[in-house]
Amino acid sequence: MLSFPSRLNLAQTPTPLQCLSRVSGELGVNIWMKRDDLTGCTLSGNKVRKLEFTLAEALAQGCDSIVTCGGLQSNHCRATALLGAQLGLKVVLVLRGETYEAADGNLLLDYLAGAEIKQYPVKGFARSLPSLLDQAAEELRQEGRKPFVIPTGASDGIGIWGYIAACKELGADFSRERIVPSHIVMATGSGGTQAGLTLGAYLQGWSSQVIGMAVCDDEAYFHDKVRADMTDWQQRYQSLLGEKIRAADECNILVNDRYIGPGYAKADQEVFDTISWLARTEGVVLDPVYTGKAFYGLIEEVKAGRMSDAKDIVFVHTGGVFGNFPQRSEFSF
Ligand SMILES: Cc1ncc(COP(=O)(O)O)c(C=O)c1O
Repeated sequence: MLSFPSRLNLAQTPTPLQCLSRVSGELGVNIWMKRDDLTGCTLSGNKVRKLEFTLAEALAQGCDSIVTCGGLQSNHCRATALLGAQLGLKVVLVLRGETYEAADGNLLLDYLAGAEIKQYPVKGFARSLPSLLDQAAEELRQEGRKPFVIPTGASDGIGIWGYIAACKELGADFSRERIVPSHIVMATGSGGTQAGLTLGAYLQGWSSQVIGMAVCDDEAYFHDKVRADMTDWQQRYQSLLGEKIRAADECNILVNDRYIGPGYAKADQEVFDTISWLARTEGVVLDPVYTGKAFYGLIEEVKAGRMSDAKDIVFVHTGGVFGNFPQRSEFSF
């Protein structure tokens, strides 16, 4: 039995595991979808599972404010802003990119949730991020607050517990549906969801291949990032994990970087067409930044015969619906 660190109850779980019958019929393989876009309404998506552990840690340390970061349309920042409001924590968001237009999509929700928003130019953001986070935390300390800094996407040794725990839930889904999926596929953006699912699948003893579909950086980058999150997990939780600590050294990290397209938050027309097609075929809405790219990639891989041994494939829908709105002009109807 795996022991878990402390956790808040924030996500609406268990989420459904749904068979996409019409898509499966077209592709000749069963495509199942774990509906983590339904972990809440405005709180939807994968980040809520991670933040159950991350925010529990922040509260355990006696923190009263949160600093985190991401793109202008970050789903993680939106979930953190709303959860901060729910828990009575001040939230400061350090955002990559500037906009002088009316706030849209996730950014609109960040403002509604009362987060303090700091926007910086894209150029040089990655390099200056550590000092921007330090500066935001220091400003909170000057106000007499105790800040907790969450890294991009809550992807670190703490956040990955979210998807290690989700594998327990998936285990119950698989037993109920009597399936042993050959593949578990998800979008990978900061690596934490993939790290959690990879470790969780290994700890559950599944033979399934866990594949992260890269949406921004290449295979080598994500290999290192997922490994780094696992190593952080090992270092933080040595006493809790006991023998299970070896899991991180033993499991395989699988990344597919064929479907990044033009870059982070930029998608080819095929991705927008896939989003429209899935919405009208199954009533499920993906997004152009993460899940649309990853699902498009999955379908292409199946069509190309690169998943020929597959019978049941599980796609984890990690949310992101609000990312469609700022890109509305890319859809053709
Ligand atoms: C909707 C959505 N799907 C997938 C991901 C990727 O998850 P991770 O950052 O854990 O790799 C993110 C965030 O980056 C996201 O917002």
